Formats: sequence, structure tokens, C-alpha cells
Amino acid sequence: MTKIRKAVIPAAGFGTRFLPATKAIPKEMLPIVDTPTLQYVVEEAVKSGITEILIILGKNKKCIEDHFDISVELEQLLMRTKKDEYLKQVRDISNMAHIYYVRQKEMNGSGMAVLEAEAFVGNEPFAVLYGDDIIYNPQKPCLKQLIDAYDTTGKVILGCQDVPKEEASKYGIVKPGATKGKYTEVIRLVEKPKINELPSTLASIGRYILTPDVFDILKRTPAMANGEVCLTDAIQTIAESTGVYAYTFEGRRYDVGDKLGYIQATIEYGLRDEKLKDGLKQYLKGLQL
Ligand code: G1P
Repeated sequence: MTKIRKAVIPAAGFGTRFLPATKAIPKEMLPIVDTPTLQYVVEEAVKSGITEILIILGKNKKCIEDHFDISVELEQLLMRTKKDEYLKQVRDISNMAHIYYVRQKEMNGSGMAVLEAEAFVGNEPFAVLYGDDIIYNPQKPCLKQLIDAYDTTGKVILGCQDVPKEEASKYGIVKPGATKGKYTEVIRLVEKPKINELPSTLASIGRYILTPDVFDILKRTPAMANGEVCLTDAIQTIAESTGVYAYTFEGRRYDVGDKLGYIQATIEYGLRDEKLKDGLKQYLKGLQL
């Protein structure tokens, strides 16, 4: 089995849900405590054994490239002022992995974003991580769980979690076949079904292991009424041919593409921060609501 070493992170969207903050700043650079959301996603990939990462950019995303690049002036300043801890942090960011970029010219859907990765991926299985989902699992990163699931089955894997019924219409939802432990055979993947038509509450959560045949399938996948090609439709084609598994991963997941999810992530990461946790706890307890 080919080892998975490449990951693709689509980051071309406008981030309209976070306007006005995202007028000039990419939503992927909004921080949770002191770290941009995209860095958490890159770190998850790196901790899962990924060595090559392609970030799909759109307009106004240059500061993403700067963030993962070397910053000579900043490093010199931190050296001169003997701020060793910060120096290590900024160096670690630029040494994390080989990061490549491609610019998606048109915003024509998650499927077309992934198609931009064809030359980078070549003929290997690869991971896709959506930046709107941050998953906390200090024991075993979500992506590593999915890579192991791919190594076990050799099939396309969807990272999934059960969600409350009233939230299920926001997701790609699995019509389940046979289930064994954390593995569920995917009969269909239905993108954002109506609440009265839910095939289950098992939701696809922005983490995929895909095989390179997805590129040819994407080229043949018709656009939806809004002109976008959705990755979900290509995954459905694979489910009908070679097969797809949903893998229920372990980890606390935050939807940082949503304001409430973003605030929840900020509070919980703050409570995990050694220097912040006591003050933050005290503040939260004292809130008169
Ligand atoms: C995308 C996918 C959807 C998935 C979701 C996970 O939707 O299309 O299948 O469940 O991410 O976060 P989006 O949230 O981009 O509309």
C-alpha cells in the first residue's frame, strides 16, 4: 500500500460569514488564542506523518504564504532581544513541512478546488483537510486515525462524526450500509439533506483520504445549479464503484467556520493553555449571565 504523505488544504473561500474581519484578512488567519486556524490544520497533518502540503489559495491570501515562510527580519529582532521562546515558535512554523501553493482562479466549488491539486498529487492516495474544522486529539490526530483506516481498507475514507439531528442539514450525510466498530460502509453521501430526508446523522467532517482516480471523476462530474462542482458528488461516484468507508474518528471537533464554533474553540483552547487557564476560568465563573 502506498504511504500517504501528501495533503491538500482548500483555503480559497471568501469567508463571508466572518465579515467585516475577513475583508482584508483571510478567514484561515483568524487566531484561536494566538495561533491562526490554518496552522492548527497544518499541524494536524504534520503530526499525522504528512510531509508535503498543498494549500489552495484564492485572492487576498498572500499573508498565508508569509505565515509559513521564513521571516528574516523578525528572527533577527527576536535573536537580538533574546526572545528565545518566540524565536523557536516562528522558526518551527517555517520548518514544519514542504508547503506549496496554487491559486484557484474561480470560486467554482470544493470539487474544482481539489482538482487544482492534480499535478501535485500525481498517482498517490492523499488527504484533504478543510480549514473550517479543527479537531483536538492530543493522543492521536484525526488525520492519523483516517490514514490508519485507509491502510486497513485500501478504500476512500471519510472522517465522520455523529451530529445532532437538527444540525445534520449543514453536512454531507452518510446513508449507511454495514457497520463494524468505527467503520461504516457508505451507500450514498447526501450533501446537506433536508431534515425530514436524513439518511442518518453520520456527518462527513472536512477530512478525507482520497485516491487519485478522483481527478478523472471530478472532470466528468456535472456542476450543480449554482455552477459549482461539489467534492461530495465525486465521492458518491466512488461509493458506487470501488467503495467508500466512513470512519468515526475520536476527537473534539470545532466548526470554526461558524461564529459560535469559533468562540467555543477560543474558550476551550484558552482553558488548555497553561498560562491562561486560571485567569480565564476565574473570569468565566464570575460572569453574571
Ligand atoms: C463541506 C462539505 C460537507 C461537509 C462539511 C464539513 O460543506 O461539502 O459535505 O459535511 O464541509 O464541515 P461546507 O461546510 O463547506 O458547506
